Amino acid sequence: MQNGHADEIAKLVEPGRVHRRVYTDPDLFEMEMERIFGRAWLYVGHASQVPNPGDFITTELGRQPVIMTRHRDGSLQVLINRCTHRGAKVVNERSGHAPRLVCCYHGWAFDTDGTLATVPVPEGCGEGFDKDALGLGRAPRVGEYRGFVFASLAAAGPSFEDHIGPMKRNIDDLVDRAPDGELALDAGMHRYVYNGNWKLQVENVLDSYHVPFGHASTVNKQGVQFARREGDRSGAAVVEGEKKQTTASWKDRKSYIVGNGHGWTSNTSLDEGKRSSPAFDEYKHALAEKVGEQRAADVLTPRLHNSLIYPNMSIMGLNIHVRVIKPIAVDRTEVNVFPIRLVGAPAAMNFGNIRLLNVTHSAASFVQTDDLESFVRAQKGLQSRMTDWVDISRGLGAEEPDRELNATRGLATHEMVVRAQYKAWLGYMREAA
Ligand code: FES
Ligand SMILES: [Fe+2]
Repeated sequence: MQNGHADEIAKLVEPGRVHRRVYTDPDLFEMEMERIFGRAWLYVGHASQVPNPGDFITTELGRQPVIMTRHRDGSLQVLINRCTHRGAKVVNERSGHAPRLVCCYHGWAFDTDGTLATVPVPEGCGEGFDKDALGLGRAPRVGEYRGFVFASLAAAGPSFEDHIGPMKRNIDDLVDRAPDGELALDAGMHRYVYNGNWKLQVENVLDSYHVPFGHASTVNKQGVQFARREGDRSGAAVVEGEKKQTTASWKDRKSYIVGNGHGWTSNTSLDEGKRSSPAFDEYKHALAEKVGEQRAADVLTPRLHNSLIYPNMSIMGLNIHVRVIKPIAVDRTEVNVFPIRLVGAPAAMNFGNIRLLNVTHSAASFVQTDDLESFVRAQKGLQSRMTDWVDISRGLGAEEPDRELNATRGLATHEMVVRAQYKAWLGYMREAA
C-alpha cells in the first residue's frame, strides 16, 4: 500500500470481512498514525492524575509524545513533549510534579501551560529571537467530560461533542457509581506490550464470543487450560458439553453501537442482589445516603459496560478500569490499564477492585494474558498469504434498532461491534490528512 488512495483503501473492508493487510501492512500503519491518530479525538488521561497545579503525566497520542499538566489557573493543558530548541523530549517521567518543565539538554524552562519561561545565557540569542513564539506545541483541541480528558491533534474536524456525545451516558453510568460523584485514577497502572496490531486489542474489548474459549482456564468450571506452547496439546481438551454450557450463559447478552466506532456490551451488573460483603454493604449504604434509595438501585444496575470509545480507550465495568491502547508499530502495541477508585466508596471495596485487577489484567494475570496470546497468534497467522480475508460476519444483517437507547443492538457473540469499528476506520482512512 503506497499511495493510500481512497478507492484502494475502501477495497480492504467489505461488509463481512477485512483484508489481512489492515493488520500487517506497515504503510497502512503509517497512514493510520496520520489519518486516525493524527486527527481523531483520543483519550489522554484523567483529571485525577493531575489534581494540583504543577502535576503532570506523559503519554503518547499516536507518534506524538505529550504532557498533560495542571496549570496554576486550574486548567488542563495537553502539550507536545518536544523542546522547541533542538527537539529533545522535555519530560521523561511518566508522572510527577514540577513548577516548571526544564529541558535536560540546554536548560530551557517551560511554564506548565507551555510558555517558554527562561532561556539560559539569553545574551546569546539572536536579534530576531522570539521567546513568545517558542512555547511548547499544544494539541489544538482538548475536551473533558467528568474528568476524562481527550485531545485531537487536528485543528479542524468533528467537535468533541459530536465525537463523544453518544458515549457520555456510559461515562455517567460509571461515574455515578461513586458516592461522591467522581472517580480517581490514582492507583498506578499496569503496562505491557504485545507483538500484534493495535486493532486486535480494540476489537477484543467488546468481544463476548471469545470469553468461554479464550479464557477457558478462568471461566470454565473444569478450569481446563488451553495449550500455550506451540506443539503442546496437553491442555486443549475442553469437554464439549462444558463448552456449550459456558457459551449458553453468554449468548443472550447484547452489544450496542452508536456510530464513530464506539460501542458497549451489557455484560456486568454490580449488584443484582447477589453480592454481599461488609464493604459492599457499606458502599450501598453510602451511595443511598448521597443519592437516595431509588437512584442507588438504578446505579447499581448498570447496563452500559464494557465500553469502547474508539479508537484508543475502553472503560471496563466489572473489575473497573480504563484501558488505553497505544500503537507502536504495525505488529507491536502497548496497553495501559488504570484501576478506577470510586471516590466515597469504602477503601476495602476499592482495594478489592485493584486486587481483582491484579489477577485479571496485570502483565502476569490469568485473563489478559489469554488475550495477548490470541493477539500474538493472530498476528502470526495473518502472515499467511494463502488466504487474504479475515471473517467478521457473525450476525451480519441481524442488527436491530434499540429505540430506548437510541443505538443499534446485536448479540454480544456477534461481530457487529467489529464491523462498526471498520466503518469508522474507513471513514478516517479514506480521507488524506
Ligand atoms: S534541546 Fe531543549 S534546551 Fe536545547
Ligand atoms: Fe478477553
